[in-house]
Amino acid sequence: MNVLLIGSGGREHALANAISISPRLTKLFCAPGNPGIAAVAEIVSVDASDHPAVVNFCRLMKIDLVVVGPEQPLVEGLVDALETAGVSAFGPSKAAAQLEGSKGFTKDLCARANIPTGAYGRFSNRDAALAYVRKAGAPIVVKADGLAAGKGVVVATSLAEAEAAVRACFEGAFGAAGAEVVIEDFLEGEEASFFALCDGVRAIALASAQDHKRVGDGDKGPNTGGMGAYSPAPIMTSEIETRVMREIVQPTMAAMAAAGTPFKGVLFAGLMIGADGPKLIEFNTRFGDPEAQVILPRVADDLLALLASCARGQLNVERIALKPLSALTVVLAAKGYPAAPQKGGEIRCVDLAAALPDVVVTHAGTKRIGDKLVANGGRVLNVTGFGLDVRAARENAYAGVDRIDFPGGFCRRDIGWRALE
Ligand code: AMP
Ligand code: GLY
Repeated sequence: MNVLLIGSGGREHALANAISISPRLTKLFCAPGNPGIAAVAEIVSVDASDHPAVVNFCRLMKIDLVVVGPEQPLVEGLVDALETAGVSAFGPSKAAAQLEGSKGFTKDLCARANIPTGAYGRFSNRDAALAYVRKAGAPIVVKADGLAAGKGVVVATSLAEAEAAVRACFEGAFGAAGAEVVIEDFLEGEEASFFALCDGVRAIALASAQDHKRVGDGDKGPNTGGMGAYSPAPIMTSEIETRVMREIVQPTMAAMAAAGTPFKGVLFAGLMIGADGPKLIEFNTRFGDPEAQVILPRVADDLLALLASCARGQLNVERIALKPLSALTVVLAAKGYPAAPQKGGEIRCVDLAAALPDVVVTHAGTKRIGDKLVANGGRVLNVTGFGLDVRAARENAYAGVDRIDFPGGFCRRDIGWRALE
């Protein structure tokens, strides 16, 4: 198969690695890619937002499958454009990507399908939203409806904070994404992420993970795209996993199909596991970053075959085989991330880390200038360690981190703390 992968982050490097070892692969292309992905794919400069250009490229290079990494092209309808042109694509249609693109859409679906989640209100009017917040009281969660790069959620511990968040949204802090606001009950428990592969009708459990969203050790400081992750998440016992499939994933698949917008691709459920079981915080309609870096290397089956089956609507497997390993990834970010990451810092000795037997290094925001590798974004590299348990995986990951020379970077030193407690 000829495959085109869309994206440029650590997630896409992990996807590229997993696809590149498939016996079915003829040639892998990636747009826009990054210097790490360039080791396993041919980098091409096709603009994912230019749908006719992507379709043309696929025709020219006889692409059999397009794998879309990030959410933006999904929400913009890239998969619809490809399928209309007869090109098979892994990822949801624009309509089905609303599960990520609109928090209100997902909350309404949960209400219709009786999916466990926090009680909520949807507002396009500031005063009505303020009245709801005052009635419900704090703690409460205020969310911009649309895509806000992970920044549109305020978990307010006081009424004043909640009111300020509502005002900020309606004053345009998140642009069009905040024209509508979802206000939701605060859920208590432990967070975990769960991933299922979906073909429009069927959903098969893939794996669980836990992310570390805050920038600093001890889960302090501002939210980020994710500073590290591990898989599996110990809190996701097989009993909880079964409940998540039965109470959240399957009813979502059924509701989406019934609405004429079947979901295919990977469904990423952000969960709160509380005393009375799992509740949905949000859906994403793509792999997580850095969750993909810990999940994909654990897949023992041929990932490319699985992705292609999802795209064709023929995911005829009972289960997905995983290696009996834990994986843990540490994100190296440029100093100043997330507010103002410093670009241009030189990175050395990546090869020394990658030479360790149970370590894989994936690139995110890196750039090659001559024979130098430099930082070119907020999250720069991911160092993933493997082991028989989280502790061993973590030791390997940090052994890799400590071999990398990146004076302009930093990382959290406590990835995995919750699993190790
Ligand atoms: P989201 O972008 O919806 O994943 O929200 C970002 C983060 O806010 C989540 O990872 C949670 O830590 C937190 N959060 C969101 N919704 C809730 C909720 N209803 N109760 C408690 N925490 C929440
Ligand atoms: N790491 C969280 C996400 O990919 O949304």
